[in-house]
Amino acid sequence: MKSIVILISGRGSNMESLLHGAASGSLPVHVAAVISNRPLAKGLETATTMGIPTHVIDHTKFDSREGFDAAVAEVIDSFSPDLVVLAGFMRILSDSFVRRFQGRMINIHPSLLPSFPGLHTHRRALEEGVRVHGCTVHFVTPALDHGPIIVQAVVPVVDGDDEASLAKRVLAQEHQIYPMAVRWFAEGRLRLLDERVELNAVQDGSGVLISPSVH
Ligand code: GRF
Repeated sequence: MKSIVILISGRGSNMESLLHGAASGSLPVHVAAVISNRPLAKGLETATTMGIPTHVIDHTKFDSREGFDAAVAEVIDSFSPDLVVLAGFMRILSDSFVRRFQGRMINIHPSLLPSFPGLHTHRRALEEGVRVHGCTVHFVTPALDHGPIIVQAVVPVVDGDDEASLAKRVLAQEHQIYPMAVRWFAEGRLRLLDERVELNAVQDGSGVLISPSVH
């Protein structure tokens, strides 16, 4: 069975969806550890409650990004995971860190990339007046919130939406597509080949998920 290490910074709801999948058997992975750069991340409690080893590597204790990244890489490597899963991990990673895990590190971002990289994606989507919004799982490459796209979920923007209501609708889809992408990887149906995603997921309708309320 493939093993994963999950990196978080906060709430950890995406992490939780992965842990539930692994615990129920619907996601055929062994979660070796959860790493947080914030000692008070709520997700740490969740992981501990679910019996997953946790590690805190507090970025404020490091003088440089490279020093922090090296410490994180060392802990990750101690578990020899097949896949590193960034789940709300709010640190910009150095190029050397990204290259070290290239092809075996994925991220989830709360927008339909390449629209709205960076922060405050829901607010910006509302400001732009887009009619559809969503989330993206992608392989991590040195450019922030870019990288080959694995799967996206689309949700409608409806009249009366505010940042909170839109965020909630997107998050529900994040919890669907992240376990899906990790399962594809675990089953050997997903890989990065020359900066392109190779995905054999015909039975799942491939790399797009439309929120039922769009139809
Ligand atoms: C999610 O919206 C994710 O897409 C983004 O950060 C948020 C993390 O939420 N990268 P959680 O910690 O998984 O609840």
